[in-house]
Amino acid sequence: MTAIDHDFAQQRRAEGGALDWLRALPRKLAGVDRRGERTIPASPPIDAAPLLLETVAPPGLGRSSGKEPETDGPRPLSMGAMAQPLKPISLRRDSIYAAFNTAMPVSDRHGLTGRNLELEKLVESIVVQRKHAVIFGTRGSGKTSLARVFGDLADEAGCVALYGSANGETDFETLFRPFLAELPMSAAGREKAKALMSGPFDVPRLASLLVEDVRQRSILIIDEYDRVHSDAARQDVAALMKLLTDLHSPVQLVLVGIASDIDGLIAAHPSLRRHISPQRVSPIPTPELARLLLGCAERASLSIDLEALDMLANAAMGSPYHARLFGMQAALIPEAAGRTRITPADVEAGLASALEDWREVSAVTHGHLARALRDAPHNRRMIALAAVVAAQVYAVSQERLVQAGAELFGPSDRLHGEAADALARLAPALAATSGGESWMFEDTLAPQFLLLMAKRPAHGAAAPDRTEEMRAMLKGVDGL
Ligand SMILES: Nc1ncnc2c1ncn2[C@@H]1O[C@H](COP(=O)(O)OP(=O)(O)OP(=O)(O)O)[C@@H](O)[C@H]1O
Ligand SMILES: [Mg+2]
Repeated sequence: MTAIDHDFAQQRRAEGGALDWLRALPRKLAGVDRRGERTIPASPPIDAAPLLLETVAPPGLGRSSGKEPETDGPRPLSMGAMAQPLKPISLRRDSIYAAFNTAMPVSDRHGLTGRNLELEKLVESIVVQRKHAVIFGTRGSGKTSLARVFGDLADEAGCVALYGSANGETDFETLFRPFLAELPMSAAGREKAKALMSGPFDVPRLASLLVEDVRQRSILIIDEYDRVHSDAARQDVAALMKLLTDLHSPVQLVLVGIASDIDGLIAAHPSLRRHISPQRVSPIPTPELARLLLGCAERASLSIDLEALDMLANAAMGSPYHARLFGMQAALIPEAAGRTRITPADVEAGLASALEDWREVSAVTHGHLARALRDAPHNRRMIALAAVVAAQVYAVSQERLVQAGAELFGPSDRLHGEAADALARLAPALAATSGGESWMFEDTLAPQFLLLMAKRPAHGAAAPDRTEEMRAMLKGVDGL
């Protein structure tokens, strides 16, 4: 697949025809190679060089080793004055960051956990049935990873998959212009494309180029489509999809973005809807997440208690991003203590530190959620259930909460009131979905953290220390 906006990946082509390739797909997804041997995916290389080895850094700020300290001028506060020296960046810590990496989408199909069904469906609807597709889900659910691996499979099936990414400023022209230079076109087409690259164009003009001059099946993957705010641009994209279908173009579009349903990304007319395949990026089943975590721990040369593994996989509630983040934070605890096994206590500590980090970067949302929990100690179970439901089906509604509550806590007349109360208290952190009938967390990473908050005591363990510190600061003030 060729990435349009950032890195450029090598294009691969099928040696046989597309049909042979499709027949082999289930075996490819199962990791079985052509000779019938199961291919063991290689561990991704840990290529980030460690900054320092396991030696303790010498005290002193802003100096590299060996040099004599300068004697003139104000002296910086020496690290020797600190209670503990800064920890060196260890080789193992480096490999933990690399193994649990939360920043990089998966690009290798063997690294993609629990997505075989989604991949098969995408291949079926896009490559075989020639539909457009919309890939949607929560933040960090694995949309980009799925789209990229699909792009590589489509390449292997003989298509040209091109990957680009939208941003808030994107209009119709800037969305498509970067693809023009990469599309496989006739010589006449390349001339026309040059004109479009430097001048204005509209939907019919682009559609006519894509229909008449593209010489090979091509799939344009537009990631981060939720960031396109212009209604006009979105309507033009919908119109382009319809035209491409009606005119039997060899070009198809795949829109990828954060949304609770297809309507959240595209205002599709019913006649276009039939030609779009919706692909929800659902939560990954907990056992698959456990398998993912086990693989990450192995790559970081750590072992993990079964109970600890369960705790991590459950806390992630289907999200590969949270699984990696929580796993990384838990793995750093034994690493700092010079141990090589992750225990349940490490997971507790790791989850607490992941929550603390999230609080730092999402203070407003954290504040809303903390207030909801603090003000409703009698209704914490329903607030926590809202988090679980949101992680599973993305959007929450009073009805869904009552239904889930009846299944989990048993039927009760109180459930309606509890569900309404929970939603009202969480309201500042929620946004209405496109249909307006249910709500999603505005920060779609929040449900996992809300559940962690609901499990922790209402007053955090850090509070007494801080109170003590403040008491010390106020010492000497009258009345204290
Ligand atoms: N199926 C998977 N197996 C293993 N790891 C995965 C899987 N899907 C995603 N990840 C990991 O989860 C993290 C988030 O993945 P990705 O960037 O694909 O999600 P996204 O939905 O595109 O996120 P965003 O909404 O921020 O664009 C990455 O670290 C990625 O490696
Ligand atoms: Mg993404």
